[in-house]
Amino acid sequence: MSLITLGIESSCDETGIALYQMGRGLLAHALYTQVAMHNEYGGVVPELASRDHVRRVIPLVRQVMREADVSLDQINVIAYTQGPGLGGALLVGASIANALAYALDIPTIGIHHLEGHLLSPLLSDPAPEFPFVALLVSGGHTQLMRVDGVGRYTLLGETLDDAAGEAFDKGAKLLGLSYPGGPALAKLAALGRPGLYKLPRPMLHSGDLDFSFSGLKTAVLTLVKQSDNDGQKILNEQTRADIACAVQEAIVDVLAHKAHAALAQTGLNQLVVAGGVGANQLLRSRLTEGIGKRGGKVFYPDLEFCTDNGAMIAFAGALRLAQQQGKKDYRFNVKPRWNLAEINTAT
Ligand code: KG4
Ligand code: ZN
Repeated sequence: MSLITLGIESSCDETGIALYQMGRGLLAHALYTQVAMHNEYGGVVPELASRDHVRRVIPLVRQVMREADVSLDQINVIAYTQGPGLGGALLVGASIANALAYALDIPTIGIHHLEGHLLSPLLSDPAPEFPFVALLVSGGHTQLMRVDGVGRYTLLGETLDDAAGEAFDKGAKLLGLSYPGGPALAKLAALGRPGLYKLPRPMLHSGDLDFSFSGLKTAVLTLVKQSDNDGQKILNEQTRADIACAVQEAIVDVLAHKAHAALAQTGLNQLVVAGGVGANQLLRSRLTEGIGKRGGKVFYPDLEFCTDNGAMIAFAGALRLAQQQGKKDYRFNVKPRWNLAEINTAT
């Protein structure tokens, strides 16, 4: 009987818990999102995030165990997000994982949050096969990676400043939308008229696979100021929608262009999109359209695995265990900043 892995994700504003068993797949998973709590402040408040994770982890562990009909003594290993992320929030997951594992006398394994995102498409059906190019687009990261296998990741390009999700969030904030801005901006953009406003496409023709999104915020700010009804600071609904449309167009254009360039550069024809921005429908249609022309295929994790979740951590833990041992000494640290290249396994 293959091992049952309990996964704990607590790197930011979502508590995700899951049970995964190799051969059987995902047994159960549960998520609690703190979005409503942080909404009031227009962004994630780290201290509030940590305190809320403390309240959620154990009840969610109980919930997935009940749903999967798995008892504590059937859990063989605990995988938790060790970084990158908010220090305090990571510490909650790491300390509960290690305390529980100590009590159960089972090993723990610390997982890189982005590795979770990179491997999460393999949870969906159909799943890509190695090697593939991954476009990782979340609130904190924008990277293009070549993925040759578990623990074999090559960075092809990344953002030099803001992440794509951050650009969505900041644009949304300037338009008076609530946090997290990405989905709200996309919804408003659907009412907008494409092409009415033209925003810059930073680094579109830089010849490399890097991104830069921080200039977009300034451009949106200028646009908002210009259109604010002669200084009355009231944008009419249609104008807000038109600007939202332009913001989305600009971000998606750059992402799609660079993703296709990454495929051309590597000669690969499978693209995997991971991270919260991967939920964006315009991005999805642009990528699908472009890759279809190349005779390639684009894979999206199921929406619930696109944003932060516990399933990807349990799954990455299970895959990692095939390569490395879990730890049973229960000393732990968290890595709020952690370069993905550091977890590459020797080939
Ligand atoms: O991967 P994720 O859940 O969390 C991390 O940052 O790790 O990504 C969250 C980001 C936020 O910036 C959110 O605004 C963005 O993903 N996002 C979207 C959409 N859904 C979520 N951005 C654009 N369009 C969406 N539909
Ligand atoms: Zn994430």
